[in-house]
Amino acid sequence: MKLSGKVAIVTAAAGVGIGQATTRTLAENGAQVVISDAHASRPATVANAIKEEFGVSTMGVQCDVTDRAQVDEMVKKTLDAFGRIDILVNNAGTNRVSKVVDMTDESWDLVINVNLKGTFYCTRAVLPTMIGQKGGKIINLSSVAGWMGAADDGAPYCTAKAGLQAFTKVVAHEVAEHNINVNAIAPGLIPNEFLGRLYPQEFFEEMRQKTPIKRDGRPSDIANAILFLVSEDSSFITGETLCVSGGVYMR
Ligand SMILES: NC(=O)c1ccc[n+]([C@@H]2O[C@H](COP(=O)([O-])OP(=O)(O)OC[C@H]3O[C@@H](n4cnc5c(N)ncnc54)[C@H](O)[C@@H]3O)[C@@H](O)[C@H]2O)c1
Repeated sequence: MKLSGKVAIVTAAAGVGIGQATTRTLAENGAQVVISDAHASRPATVANAIKEEFGVSTMGVQCDVTDRAQVDEMVKKTLDAFGRIDILVNNAGTNRVSKVVDMTDESWDLVINVNLKGTFYCTRAVLPTMIGQKGGKIINLSSVAGWMGAADDGAPYCTAKAGLQAFTKVVAHEVAEHNINVNAIAPGLIPNEFLGRLYPQEFFEEMRQKTPIKRDGRPSDIANAILFLVSEDSSFITGETLCVSGGVYMR
């Protein structure tokens, strides 16, 4: 129970991938969790399921991270319900794949806004509380795409994920004196049901072949890395981007 007494917000946590898996791992380790997601009904459903399964207090909140008012409201509701915020996992991300020559303004803006601006909004909204508490942990979801810049991932996604690594370092510098650690995780491909409907099976097979550790990445692989980075076991690590990719990318 590394996280008992801690309160965590995870964005985009009502889907079938990394966000929900992270919330479950934090709850399993004793944290009270806020399941935040742009979807209207799923946050409450997932919150109830996690409460039932792990016996911790939970809350579901609808929040589109690109909407500043909704982000501020999510933080207010968390403080009203739990009185503190110890952990923020900026998990929300999205992608639109197109070559730059064909890229629309709408696709560019959406991907940059969800990945980068959303992370900025959520981080800025929780920092006064964490500074007041003299401690906190913030995790940003980058990607190996931020280093590799692969065409498969699209320019705004790679640009945003690289930008998140710089943002992580800047905020880590700014808040280290307040005992707040800010780190990023760069996953390789982590298949889930939703991605399985978007991409052909050959794509996953090709990725599996390219992965030195010959298996698919699992949402729990990322959740376990996040657990380490939000626990006191990693209290001397900040401003870092941890690659969790089965060796697809080695820094
Ligand atoms: N899955 C991968 O292969 C992979 C690889 C590298 C990085 N990542 C990053 O990890 C994070 C999680 O990805 P995942 O694929 O596991 O999905 P996930 O299941 O964690 O997230 C999907 C959820 O995001 C929500 N969402 C979408 N836009 C939102 C917004 N504007 N505000 C709030 N919620 C929103 C959706 O409603 C959905 O429930 C993302 O940042 C992604 O870019 C994923």
